Amino acid sequence: MEITPEIKEKLEKINAKYAALGQDMGSYLDGLLYADTVKYWDYIAIDTLLSLQKPRTSFPDEVIFIVYHQITELYFKLALREFEQVSEKEDLTAEFLVERTTRINRYFEALTKSFEIMVQGMEKEQFLKFRMSLLPASGFQSAQYRLIEIASTDFINLVHKDVRSNFKGTEPIKEMYQNIYWKEGATELDSGKKTLTLEQFEERYSDEFISFGEKHINTNLWQCYKSLPQVDQERDDVIIALKQNDVNVNINWPLVHYKSAVRYLHRAPDDIAATGGTNWQKYLPPRFQKRIFYPELWSEEEVNNWGKTWVEEVLGKQS
Ligand code: HEM
Repeated sequence: MEITPEIKEKLEKINAKYAALGQDMGSYLDGLLYADTVKYWDYIAIDTLLSLQKPRTSFPDEVIFIVYHQITELYFKLALREFEQVSEKEDLTAEFLVERTTRINRYFEALTKSFEIMVQGMEKEQFLKFRMSLLPASGFQSAQYRLIEIASTDFINLVHKDVRSNFKGTEPIKEMYQNIYWKEGATELDSGKKTLTLEQFEERYSDEFISFGEKHINTNLWQCYKSLPQVDQERDDVIIALKQNDVNVNINWPLVHYKSAVRYLHRAPDDIAATGGTNWQKYLPPRFQKRIFYPELWSEEEVNNWGKTWVEEVLGKQS
């Protein structure tokens, strides 16, 4: 084989790279000589991936339920990487913020579109049976979903809307966390007590949520936006990306998710108690939660009508 000037130049660069690390290039060339080639199945860890579905019953549709939750968690992981990139960016620009926020939007749009897999794709009879063997677990306990909320907005916007006006937003995160909106979704209808689902979730994750909140006081997506020069804050593409994000995360995904709860759990006049007796009908619809990450970007009327568009339609069809 001829050692062409190009190959020689590459070798010199590789040598310089290892020399800078105090390493001997020859040993690394030996490594290259013996190293196996990369195979798709190893790189993507296919065997591990396909071994991660562990149904608790033998109903075939339970695997659909597990896989779709896993798909969702992977998209959440991708979204969180984008939040981190924005919050850690030195000299953040409007372009960078728009591009990263648009990626997050794409992930949520993919999830919203594919949610039909949950809404239509399982037999209700099977669902109602295998769901009982999963209690008290619930998607409510998705920590990544909560981290996305905390990474998006000032913590005050996650305080339950009925008590939010008692806070200034400058209180310690720990204090605001006591009044986080999601507690309402895991409260027993009859007794008003915390469900086991919530108790276990808090025991496992509260410390992490509080420290994540503290870390993002000045670097959540809203604060990153506010750190841009005024002229960039007023740019259409920036405002549209953030508003779309609010709609995707706080209206469209919650509504399509709610549709699945209605399909499987709604049975007039009583709802099916497959969730440990929570008040999900009053809690899940976005028009009740009014969770809004960027309220300053919306008009008063838009805030008042938050999530009202197709929720009645969803209920009407299923009851
Ligand atoms: C047949 C499919 C599904 C049904 C019937 C369903 C039902 C419910 C119900 C009733 C709740 C309220 C809390 C509770 O009572 O446990 C809830 C909350 C939640 N579920 Fe699902 N769910 C489904 C699929 C999913 C999937 C695929 C995910 C993806 C991770 C998910 C994530 C969540 C999250 C994040 C919450 C909390 C929402 C909030 O606090 O606003 N769910 N779900």
